Amino acid sequence: MYTQSFNVPDGGTPTLQAVPAPADADLQVRFDTVIDADGKIEPRDWMPDAYRKTLVRQISQHAHSEIVGMLPEGNWISRAPSLKRKAILVAKVQDEGGHGLYLYSAAETLGTSRDQMFDALHSGRAKYSSIFNYPTLTWADVGVIGWLVDGAAIMNQIPLCRCSYGPYARAMIRVCKEESFHQRQGYEALLTMMQGTPEQKAMVQDAVNRWWWKCLAMFGPPDADSPNSVQGMRWGIKRISNDDLRQKFVDATVPQAEVLGVTLPDPDLKWNAERGHHDFGAIDWDEFWQVVNGNGPCNQERLATRVKAWENGAWVREAALAHARKQQDRQHQEAA
Ligand code: 3HC
Repeated sequence: MYTQSFNVPDGGTPTLQAVPAPADADLQVRFDTVIDADGKIEPRDWMPDAYRKTLVRQISQHAHSEIVGMLPEGNWISRAPSLKRKAILVAKVQDEGGHGLYLYSAAETLGTSRDQMFDALHSGRAKYSSIFNYPTLTWADVGVIGWLVDGAAIMNQIPLCRCSYGPYARAMIRVCKEESFHQRQGYEALLTMMQGTPEQKAMVQDAVNRWWWKCLAMFGPPDADSPNSVQGMRWGIKRISNDDLRQKFVDATVPQAEVLGVTLPDPDLKWNAERGHHDFGAIDWDEFWQVVNGNGPCNQERLATRVKAWENGAWVREAALAHARKQQDRQHQEAA
């Protein structure tokens, strides 16, 4: 008898014993053991409702950030200064769309449908990153988004490759590789501009001035005001706190700014030898919460563009479904 899972006794019909379902407490112990051992929770594993809910919240917000993040840069595709820059930007914006797809798929494994997530986004109930509610005024903004916004995103996302939820962690590996290309293309575009005319250099400095503080706020509220952090870290979803990631980002970015030849717009920014880190000034958290709560400079425009794209794409979704149904019918006929 070839079998891997049953111990079949010789000479008789096997009697399959019903395995009693473990009680919730046992399931919780198993879950905690996996988390404590730094293992992975997979979609079919039992998980506490609150863990599932937290993951759906974070992954869907992340997915929304990716697809809303396509909009500020998408505005510059038709105005890129050369064919090379246009090709790079098209590829980058497409990558962001792909990141959205991996993340929506990861969230779907937790039992939430894509329609539910889109509905939350389009009705304004869902959050997405504050950073995408600011305008991209010049071509230098596109470079700065690559260097600083994608740079901040990578800093936050590398630890997510070790997230305790398997599908999210695995999706993040590819996302981070692509984000790393995004960061480098932005920095390289800025390096090129900084070797240009005084006007081009001023344009880069102006973009850095406008984006710097918003990028620091992107990491989320200070640890003391972050309601989700303690539990998120206990569950191995978050690995590094908001403040620690922010500090790492500042420390990594200061030397890059020096090479680029730009000034970071913070008079309080200086090396603190005692701490072994850079000190930096106070972030405007009132502005951050205004933006998160829907009152930033571009919140309405971003949401309206997103909803319009969704409505304009209805015929594509309908056609894809009709095609899939046709294929399925054909397969059934062939199999019959
Ligand atoms: N923008 C909007 N909302 C934010 C925010 C931001 N920058 N930072 C925090 N918040 C929200 C949180 O979502 C939370 O709201 P909720 O409880 O209603 O969901 C509230 O502020 C309190 O924040 P917490 O620190 O307690 O929340 P978290 O523990 O979830 O931490 C986070 C926030 C660090 C953003 C975390 O959710 C995370 O790491 N998410 C995954 C990464 C992500 O979403 N990045 C967004 C940018 S992706 C991107 O930029 C695309 C790339 O192409 C550039």
